Amino acid sequence: MWRDLKVTRAANSRLAEVDFDALGFGNVFSDHMFSMTCSDGEWGDPQILPYGNIEVAPGNATLHYGQSVFEGLKAFIGSDNVARVFRPDMNARRLLSSCERMCIPPLDEETFCAAIDELVALDHAWIPHKRGQALYVRPLIFSIENHLEVRPSTEFRFIVMTAPVRAYFDEGVGPIALKVEETYTRSAPGGIGAAKTAGNYAASLYPTQRGVQDGFVQMVWLDGIEHRYVEEVGAMNIFFRFKDTIVTPDLHGTILPGVTRDSVITLLRDAGHTVEERRVAIDEVVESVHNGELLEVFGAGTAAIIAPVGKFSYRNEVLTVQDNQAGEITRWLYERLTDIQRGDTEDKYRWNRLIAIDEPSVTAVTS
Ligand code: COI
Repeated sequence: MWRDLKVTRAANSRLAEVDFDALGFGNVFSDHMFSMTCSDGEWGDPQILPYGNIEVAPGNATLHYGQSVFEGLKAFIGSDNVARVFRPDMNARRLLSSCERMCIPPLDEETFCAAIDELVALDHAWIPHKRGQALYVRPLIFSIENHLEVRPSTEFRFIVMTAPVRAYFDEGVGPIALKVEETYTRSAPGGIGAAKTAGNYAASLYPTQRGVQDGFVQMVWLDGIEHRYVEEVGAMNIFFRFKDTIVTPDLHGTILPGVTRDSVITLLRDAGHTVEERRVAIDEVVESVHNGELLEVFGAGTAAIIAPVGKFSYRNEVLTVQDNQAGEITRWLYERLTDIQRGDTEDKYRWNRLIAIDEPSVTAVTS
């Protein structure tokens, strides 16, 4: 798509140093990154360059006021040796809406997807092969302006980096324990909860640190007004199976509209399950544990994939879901979703974007 894409290849690949049997989440990055800059609303200067440090002045507005947005998506390689990126169009649209909320000039879907195509094509050897692993793609836009006024910047940088990863939680497909947060909130009506922006994650750090000290992996956030309704888990959206109905909080502006959330709803409905998107009171969840109607709880997110929840604590009571085992629908979803992502089954929804990996379509190559 670009006539003027400048590619500077890394002099030496770091790939041989990576232990693909011991991947973490986002602590190893592939050889290259994509970069564009924006000045007064115009995006330009597309480049691929070796992944590495960038210069940031101490007065950089992002460091002070957090004007940044990001995305998370994944590239897979299946047994057919084809590289696929899962639903980048949806991430592109979510990025656009995050940009609007954070006063960042729009970056169009075609540019977003083409940047990922080029980068994944060039670093395709970094895509892990095992189920549960992937090449995580992290697009990021941030202000590169140097000023201390609290106002939207006019200069930005768009960087896409990639990292070979395992699933976000150490537990893999084993159930995780969550703590329902009763004091702190992640977002409030009218706030930035639906945008994928740094501030939402910053707000979660202190309460999550306390939860981790108590032995939990993450927090279940409740609504910011009454502390009564379940919102999301921060790294993923959440689903409850009450007998034969699967329920997830509706998108009402304070939670992130997850791409995996949307995929899960489609897969479940297509398989004949009843899915309700509605308010879920924490009291309803607790009561359904006590009366045996809560059959499964799972999280869904790009990084987390499908994460079974085996325990959660609320008001000092630790509640166990189905003997702390991954439920039948949770296991089915994990297999179904990862089969589609890896190309092991028909992609009937046309979610995968296929990447031509023989030669990146670059026009200028420097060494
Ligand atoms: C993702 O799932 O891609 C996210 O951005 C969540 C993050 C906490 C890793």
